[in-house]
Amino acid sequence: MAPLIAKLLSHISPVAAISTSLLASGFYLVGLVIYRLYFHPLASFPGPKLAAATGWYEFYFQYWLDGQYIFETEKLVKRYGPVIRVNPEELFIHDPEFYNDLYVAESTRRTNHYDNFAQGIGFDGCHLLTVEHDLHRARRKPLEPYFSRMGISRLQPMLAEVALHLETRLREYTNTSEIVRLDHAFTAYTGDIIGRMCLDTDDPGDRFLSREDFSADWSWIMQMIIRSVPLFSGFPFIIRLLSPIPSEVLLWLYPRGQAFATFQEKARGNIRKALGSNSLNDKYVESLFHHVANSDMPASEKSEERLAKEAQLLLGGGTVTSARTISCAAYYILTRSDVAKRLREELKNPMTEWPTHVPTWAELERLPFLQAVIKEALRVDFGVMTRLPRISPDVPLQYKQYTIPAGVPVGMSSYFMHMDPDIFPNPSEFIPERWLGSINPLMNRNFVPFSRGSRTCLGSNLALAEISLVLAVLFRPNGPKLELFETDESDVRVAHDFGVPLPKLDTKGVRAYVR
Ligand code: HEM
Repeated sequence: MAPLIAKLLSHISPVAAISTSLLASGFYLVGLVIYRLYFHPLASFPGPKLAAATGWYEFYFQYWLDGQYIFETEKLVKRYGPVIRVNPEELFIHDPEFYNDLYVAESTRRTNHYDNFAQGIGFDGCHLLTVEHDLHRARRKPLEPYFSRMGISRLQPMLAEVALHLETRLREYTNTSEIVRLDHAFTAYTGDIIGRMCLDTDDPGDRFLSREDFSADWSWIMQMIIRSVPLFSGFPFIIRLLSPIPSEVLLWLYPRGQAFATFQEKARGNIRKALGSNSLNDKYVESLFHHVANSDMPASEKSEERLAKEAQLLLGGGTVTSARTISCAAYYILTRSDVAKRLREELKNPMTEWPTHVPTWAELERLPFLQAVIKEALRVDFGVMTRLPRISPDVPLQYKQYTIPAGVPVGMSSYFMHMDPDIFPNPSEFIPERWLGSINPLMNRNFVPFSRGSRTCLGSNLALAEISLVLAVLFRPNGPKLELFETDESDVRVAHDFGVPLPKLDTKGVRAYVR
């Protein structure tokens, strides 16, 4: 066969070969567009023809306009109604009544992940990106007890230690003219908590909070990863091209990636140790991978390589998210004296003996105003605002008159749920009081920062516990006196959706003096 092809090719001039392949590609593309517009199972769904014809439409808003497709989708919903074909393969729905029908528990229906969403970003193999429902359950279930309410309560002493470390570090700036990047400090706080869980180390040098600038490099690398999501998910092959390059070379090119690389390396070491020990005693109560080693996770899923991806996911997914919520809440507390005063009064009793006595998470949950501030911060910064596609692999989904074939990715977004003016009047405003007293039950229906169903956030208990504690420590009557420096609402307000929401890209962060 090969000699025959070679012989045929020898009779074709290079110009003719190029023209023929261009023509063939042109026919293929035209055919593909015709198929997508007229014969695809989603051909009859509403939405712009350009979005139905090509993924470049979404890519333009996500990459060239820096994470703007969610806002474009908002315009499309106003124009076309609650169901939109947002790209050739995917549907978006905005209807709060449908949320619980889409994001379901495993007892209701199997739910697959849509692997086109973040397949490029190098986290493949972790349970978040596991496409198939049953494998996702096998990977996630053994982690659930560790992240349950009871599991997180056991981590309370560790959380208190890290919160005290943050407070001590902030107090070092008292009455100096130095400005603290609070957003970096909070990312270091949440990063150290994940570090204590994944690295299982007593070495103070391993703490992000210990470093002078609260490990600004670490926050920087996270921002870079987040901002590259549209490119890498549009062109996953870039990651595949980068994969064989030795990490030493990548670090030489991007020295600021060191913080992430160090974490990965230490996590691997700890995973190796944990898998080798197969024992769980009090010493290891904080250590996630000792729990995994002793869990009923199938041996095939316990490889060092895969668990390192899980650690990477926890560090990536569990730090920036909570840190953003803390920054957002801190900004509003520091700019709204009425909120700060009410919080101080509420925290007076439970925090009188801090740090000798540490209030439990359950105690902090009983403080209505603190919890209202946290809920409102999660509402206005949306948690994860991007649409989260889910696939029903076995049965079609019915939404009103639309029958959505099995296998089609369908997503909804917390941004739409949280900005619904019928449920949250003046939705852009930070009004914690809206959560007090007898509230409209539809507010809870629409409040979905952690998503829902079998793929809901694994770390929501940890997030709520660490956010409650740090706000109680910082904004209690004797807390460090923080005063914002050249920071306004645009430094916390979401302006871009890169999978994780970000404020304006030229923000200098949430900056403060300590008085
Ligand atoms: C305010 C803080 C947080 C918010 C708003 C948040 C939100 C979310 C959301 C919306 C999802 C679903 C993602 C998807 O469907 O693709 C998710 C998944 C996840 N989150 Fe969080 N998260 C937060 C903090 C954390 C923390 C602290 C951790 C870990 C320690 C964590 C670990 C995870 C994991 C492992 C998943 C994947 C779950 C699965 O696929 O089964 N998150 N999170």
